[in-house]
Amino acid sequence: MIDLLQVTPLPPFLIERLAKDFALHNFVNPADPDRLLDEVGTRLRGIIAGGMKGVNANLIHRLEKLEIIAHFSVGFDATDVAAAQARGIVVTHTPEVLTGDVADLAMTFVLMAPRRIGEAERYLRQGKWRQARMDPGTTVRGKRLGILGLGRIGKAVARRAEVFGLNVGYHDIKPMGDLPYRAYPTLLELAAASDILLVACEGGAATRGLVDAAVLEALGPTGYLINTARGSIVDQGALVAALKEGRIAGAALDVFDGEPEVPAELMTMENVVLTPHIASSTHETRRAMADLVYDNLAAHFAGKPVLTPVPQQV
Ligand code: 8YV
Repeated sequence: MIDLLQVTPLPPFLIERLAKDFALHNFVNPADPDRLLDEVGTRLRGIIAGGMKGVNANLIHRLEKLEIIAHFSVGFDATDVAAAQARGIVVTHTPEVLTGDVADLAMTFVLMAPRRIGEAERYLRQGKWRQARMDPGTTVRGKRLGILGLGRIGKAVARRAEVFGLNVGYHDIKPMGDLPYRAYPTLLELAAASDILLVACEGGAATRGLVDAAVLEALGPTGYLINTARGSIVDQGALVAALKEGRIAGAALDVFDGEPEVPAELMTMENVVLTPHIASSTHETRRAMADLVYDNLAAHFAGKPVLTPVPQQV
């Protein structure tokens, strides 16, 4: 049997399926990582990683038989792809299958933050309705949604936003061709022209801290920040400060820098929606992601091309 290392939590049905065809070694929270690697390291030919748990250059160098890193995620910023490339290691991810669900959560956030839905639910549960009606929220119709990164997910949110009567603008490093959305040459200009700014670009070194204090300032005191991409893209300290001082109106966040840790200050803010990185987490999408991980591994070990290599390897 081919030996695989699992470095990220996976759904039980994928673990069961893999365990039938592969010798699967759990490396999610190993008590003694060195011992496990000493025992099986020389035999390992594949790694299953995830969006938050990738494979660094040290591990890549240590596993001399490593051939493939299959991500149970569309994002692969937690893995050192350049180090893998240098060794000719195949890297795969799970694009397309999660686009709809991630876009659904982003659109939900676009509605939730201005309409104060989280706050409204707490208001009712805390019995405040008996004392007074809650103050109104803000409509999204006719408002401007700025999308940072108009990839698969960004475009899927744009389509949803159009239905809700929002005007969509975007900033992307790649030219996008003919689209019915206004392109802004810089993120600062996009933020200044947005009522709601959605972070939908890739994570990794190139985008770390892109949404900084100046971008939040440009978004302004009536603006909302939505992030369903990666916590690293937003300067979290600057975001907390801007929220505290009322320099932006609110935020809705599914991802955090250093998650699962979440800044304590965010926990008590009424104008902030917080979810634990659930954008792709539906039964249907997790199945589809699991199938794609399995199919990529099966194709590779059958000597066939993988189905969904990362863009660097296309
Ligand atoms: C996952 C993700 O929840 O696809 C991604 O990039 O971040 C999420 O879909 C996570 O990575 C599961 O491993």
